[in-house]
Formats: sequence, structure tokens, C-alpha cells
Amino acid sequence: MKILVHLSDLHFGRVDEALLAPLVETVRGAAPDLVVVSGDLTQRARAWQFREAREFLDALPSPQIVVPGNHDVPLYNVFARFFQPLDNYKEHITRDLEPFYADAEIAVLGVNTARSLTIKDGRINERQVARIREHMCAYADHVTKVVVTHHPFDLPEGGKESDLVGRARRAMEALARCGADVLLAGHLHLSHTGHTAKRYNTKGHSALVVQAGTATSTRGRGEPNSFNLVRVQHPHIQVERLSWSADAGAFKPASSETFRHTPDGWTRLPDEVAAGITFAADTTGLQPSIPRAE
Ligand SMILES: [Fe+2]
Ligand SMILES: [Fe+2]
Repeated sequence: MKILVHLSDLHFGRVDEALLAPLVETVRGAAPDLVVVSGDLTQRARAWQFREAREFLDALPSPQIVVPGNHDVPLYNVFARFFQPLDNYKEHITRDLEPFYADAEIAVLGVNTARSLTIKDGRINERQVARIREHMCAYADHVTKVVVTHHPFDLPEGGKESDLVGRARRAMEALARCGADVLLAGHLHLSHTGHTAKRYNTKGHSALVVQAGTATSTRGRGEPNSFNLVRVQHPHIQVERLSWSADAGAFKPASSETFRHTPDGWTRLPDEVAAGITFAADTTGLQPSIPRAE
């Protein structure tokens, strides 16, 4: 069993300071195998905001897979926007814009969907899709394949199509052939779990789309700050959302959904069935099919 902590939309420069210490404490307490941050680390891509984000990341467990969001590209400095769009991000967060992690149970690839030409929309290009396939296709089915982007591949009910990652349909077709199992994203500041079967109807395959809300931003779109704990134990995945409780001054479990991977894609298990599944740390004797990338 592997535990991923999925944080998104930190927005340093506009964070609720009261949440930071409890968030770090809760994430550490979860003892994750991997921490994922799906973009928008800052509010306006300023160096001081990235420095604060860096300090926050340093307080969290490693390894980490971090991707940039549209807010991590400068908005008003037009020169920087087009010629050095991710310079501050690269200096303070990571130079690796396509981070990859793999072990015996999970393979996780980050993809940068932030672009200079659009203010907030994202894109995935052919080269990036080819790279995902290159990384993921080699893994056997028992390894859960996770792709991390800032912009989502699917939306909650009533969501705006323009928020989807651009060229998503073509990307999904290519990813389906390699069996991308889970797509982690942010951007909407709303949590949501669904699967791509309805939207993309890719034969015999659907990916689980897990959307994290904003962990620390003061712009919560009516939802309390939250993040996800994703437990992976093939063929099951449990997505637990922890939400900020101002009364308790702590992040508390708010919802939990468990899914089973079947030949036709993911099925959400009824709560009584899910309750019978134990996610335990020592269930695998599987060996990695590819050595872990450093
Ligand atoms: Fe955001
Ligand atoms: Fe965003």
C-alpha cells in the first residue's frame, strides 16, 4: 500500500497563515510515500512568494512531485511572461518540469500544463503525451500509473469546459492505451472525484480523476481549504479528503471514497463494501518493473 498526499493551489502571497503549521503537522502525521503538489504554488509568481512556497515544501516529507500552475507564470511582467515564464519557479522550486517517481506499486509523472500565451488555460502537447507514454507504457498492470497536471482532465457537474487542459481528448486516447490509472489535478479550487469514462468514452479504459481543492489559499470558492490522502493498494484506491475545521483548528476527514479497478475501468464501491477493505502498509511483495528514477 502506498500513501500519496495530494496538495494543490497553495497560492503563497495569499495564504491563510493559520493553516500552515497544522497542515504540515497533518501531512507529516500521514507518513506519505509521496507528496504531490499540483500547481499554483504562488499567487503572482513573485520571487518572495516562491521563497515562502519553498520553505513550506521543505517542511513536508519527501519525495515530492511538484508541477507549476498558471499562477506560477508572471502575469503583468510581459517580458518575463514570454521569455522567462518559469524562471522564478525553476530557481526556487525545481528545475525539473517533468518530475517522475516510481517504486514497486506506483509510477507518478508530473506534466507542466501552464503556458505563457493564455492567462489561465492550460495545454498538453504531443511531446508531453509521448513522454508520458514513454514512462508509463513499460509498467505492468499491477503498478498504478498516476499523471499529475495543474489543469484538470475532467470537471465537476456544471464546470466550465475552458478549465479543462487543452487537447485533453487526444491526450486521453494516447494515455488510455498505456493505462494511465489516476489523474491528479487542481486549478478549480474545488475538490471532486470522478472518472473519465463519461467524458472521453475511451474503449475499455477509464482513468480516475482526482481534483484537490486549495490547501492554503484564501480564495476557496465556497469550500473549506482541503487536501487529499490517496491510498493505493492495487486494485483499490481510496481517496480521503481532509478539510480545514476552523472550530477545531485542524484538518479533519471530510469524505472518503473507495474505487476498484476492473477490466472496464474504475468502479466506486458502496460504503459497506469499502469498509471491509483494509489498506495496510505491508501487503506487497511486488518488484519494480523499472528501477526507481532519482
Ligand atoms: Fe489556483
Ligand atoms: Fe490555476
